[in-house]
Amino acid sequence: QVSWKLEDHPNLPKGKTVALIVLDGWGEYKPDEYNCIHVAPTPTMDSLKQGAPEKWRLIKAHGNAVGLPTEDDMGNSEVGHNALGAGRIFAQGAKLVDLALASGKIYEGEGFKYISECFEKGTLHLIGLLSDGGVHSRLDQLQLLLKGASERGAKRIRVHILTDGRDVLDGSSVGFVETLENDLAKLRDGGVDARIASGGGRMYVTMDRYENDWDVVKRGWDAQVRGEAPHKFTNAVEAVKKLRENANDQYLPPFVIVDENEKAVGPIVDGDAVVTFNFRADRMVMLAKALEYQDFDKFDRVRVPKIRYAGMLQYDGELKLPNHYLVSPPEIDRTSGEYLVRNGVRTFACSETVKFGHVTFFWNGNRSGYFNPELEEYVEIPSDVGITFNVQPKMKALEIGEKARDAILSRKFDQVRVNIPNGDMVGHTGDIQATVVACKAADEAVKIIIDAIEQVGGIYVVTADHGNAEDMVKRNKSGQPLFDKNGNLQILTSHTCQPVPIAIGGPGLAPGVRFRNDVPNGGLANVAATVMNLHGYVAPNDYEPTLIEVVKN
Ligand code: 3PG
Ligand code: CO
Repeated sequence: QVSWKLEDHPNLPKGKTVALIVLDGWGEYKPDEYNCIHVAPTPTMDSLKQGAPEKWRLIKAHGNAVGLPTEDDMGNSEVGHNALGAGRIFAQGAKLVDLALASGKIYEGEGFKYISECFEKGTLHLIGLLSDGGVHSRLDQLQLLLKGASERGAKRIRVHILTDGRDVLDGSSVGFVETLENDLAKLRDGGVDARIASGGGRMYVTMDRYENDWDVVKRGWDAQVRGEAPHKFTNAVEAVKKLRENANDQYLPPFVIVDENEKAVGPIVDGDAVVTFNFRADRMVMLAKALEYQDFDKFDRVRVPKIRYAGMLQYDGELKLPNHYLVSPPEIDRTSGEYLVRNGVRTFACSETVKFGHVTFFWNGNRSGYFNPELEEYVEIPSDVGITFNVQPKMKALEIGEKARDAILSRKFDQVRVNIPNGDMVGHTGDIQATVVACKAADEAVKIIIDAIEQVGGIYVVTADHGNAEDMVKRNKSGQPLFDKNGNLQILTSHTCQPVPIAIGGPGLAPGVRFRNDVPNGGLANVAATVMNLHGYVAPNDYEPTLIEVVKN
């Protein structure tokens, strides 16, 4: 039985409007020409930094601080928002899958038993992101699963690959496909009929999120399930090399692998088993719905095979989606959002589509929907569809800022929470000039919100979920940019391991509130207790400690 009542903070008042701004992909790094946040005019964020160390500091946003397996793991939005919202550090999907594979427990669970019933007569299909990025999936986990499944009776395996270039360097897809082909060849030597069946770039095929563009999922469905795609190859390495002539890894068009008679080698048919091997939810939920739901009207599936489907994890605990899964997801319970709403804190959350679930679903511990619709309002601003965001680097930053402003000025909410996506979404394109424009737009959105907070006498908290735009090149250990063999700068499209800023302020901030100096290793998970304090509450005991103290003068 959870006791939801939060204790009153001894020194801090209730009833202040708190704006909580998460800049996506906004880390702190040395100021050079590849630091787009440094290059961009960002007067608002610069002025907040002047408040250091009492009102501005850095916090950790990668590795163990956000529940990832190692300190080499860069942060990402899922684990970042989970930590921000939950106030505690949970072992995340990447780690849970590692553990389940290492112990073999993955094969003893209900999910694996369920799919393995198909191994005798059907094909096992594995669909997911092929890279070692560790954000949505990991190649070594796929390798172990392939091995484990074949040792446990899978006789025919088809892998449907999604190329990355977003959590890893563009162009790295070729090497990953080669590695996979080697593994599959070994399985074939051992008598398992194992092949790549289809593929495509993650941003163009399958891995859309938050229902931004169902066509992306449809293209994947056509290739994976129906065995139909505009491009046909007999070999996946060749496919990726050829298609890369006109697109980068993230955006490769869909292709299917065919035999000598032009017949797709691995459509999904009745009696087959399917596993989506991504552990991260946001970009698998849409496919999971298409695979699992009887009633489904987002696109014409044409043929709906009777399959046994399991996710690597359950992607949405509230929707129980999918029903079957190989590894239990982290049980992120008692989030700060739920506590605050249950204590009467009226909450507004907003972002544009591509990040909307970050400040709602991820924030609330991978849970969709409201806790109490009477106290909450979540507003989604439709993202531009069908473009890469370097073309529109301002995205909907100003619209998000304005929605937050209106919510603040309405005085209907105690917490107004936003995610401003630009640094991240444009940073992922690897387009440095566009990312500079993106950072400027994000800074302007922050200003709109802070100005509104000034007007209502409120408090602002500005932070970020992980690094991205502050470093756009791959570097050697001493921090020098790296060039490829043709002398081209190696552009970093991925996130980073850099810390992120957090700033507090506003006229409602009680005198004497400042960052403590005894939490030097503070990370994203320390923000929840901090925000609870600013709402006038003490955080539950097991939350990571607050970053602030109140000094009497
Ligand atoms: C993506 O899904 O776009 C990237 O893999 C990670 O980006 P995010 O963690 O910022 O969403
Ligand atoms: Co990102």
